[in-house]
Amino acid sequence: MNIDIKQDYPELCAAVAQQVIDCVAAKPDALICIAGGDTPLGVFAALVEASNDGRVDFSRAFFLGLDEWLGLGRDDKGSCREMVWHHFFDKLPLRDEQICFFDGLTNDPAAECQRVDAFIAAHQQIDIVVLGIGMNGHIGFNEPGVSAENTCHVVDLDPVTQAVSVKYFGEPRDVKQGISLGIKTLRAAKRMILMASGEKKSAIVAKTVQTESSSDIPSTLVKDHPNVTLMVDRAAGGQL
Ligand code: GLP
Repeated sequence: MNIDIKQDYPELCAAVAQQVIDCVAAKPDALICIAGGDTPLGVFAALVEASNDGRVDFSRAFFLGLDEWLGLGRDDKGSCREMVWHHFFDKLPLRDEQICFFDGLTNDPAAECQRVDAFIAAHQQIDIVVLGIGMNGHIGFNEPGVSAENTCHVVDLDPVTQAVSVKYFGEPRDVKQGISLGIKTLRAAKRMILMASGEKKSAIVAKTVQTESSSDIPSTLVKDHPNVTLMVDRAAGGQL
């Protein structure tokens, strides 16, 4: 795994955004997957700016959602859908058919998994995936103990994830399950970026780098991907 430590969050986001821009320049119909959560918000802003400035053309690109809280939809503040649309998709001139995103309000999560798996299969491969690292090492909603052989699947959320979720919702919400791309799906991506920012992520970033690959820390399960880079700011890389 390559490690790239940037000075601060703006520099980190600019560098991650440039990776996405380069991917689309090389392959205009690229399939792009960027996590929800707080970590990539600056990447979204940088990509919107690049689109407005004509430095990237997303008109032929495709976007894939990484994960979602089951039971939450677009109208629920802090859902992945709400965050990604608000900060990114709503600000770009995209057509609906360019986006595939888990529906957290589905009555049939298994069918939803199949739908997303089929979308990925139709595109053959995710060209670039930008992942955040959760406080417990989760990537997407691949929680500690996850199998590395999963494609899209429903997840029982880890207590750490349930506790951390308050920061998105602004209040405790009864979220017990999520739906997520699996480790196998993610590992099949052509290019992978593991992104982390801030001192509070420094311990899990160090564990990700220093621990043998283990499902106890899901972020370690992608370390041997042939084209993965851990991109962090100095605060998140402080224990490396
Ligand atoms: C959340 C999301 C993930 C995200 C990760 C880190 O629970 N489901 O998509 O990448 O955990 O979140 P954050 O960037 O807010 O720290």
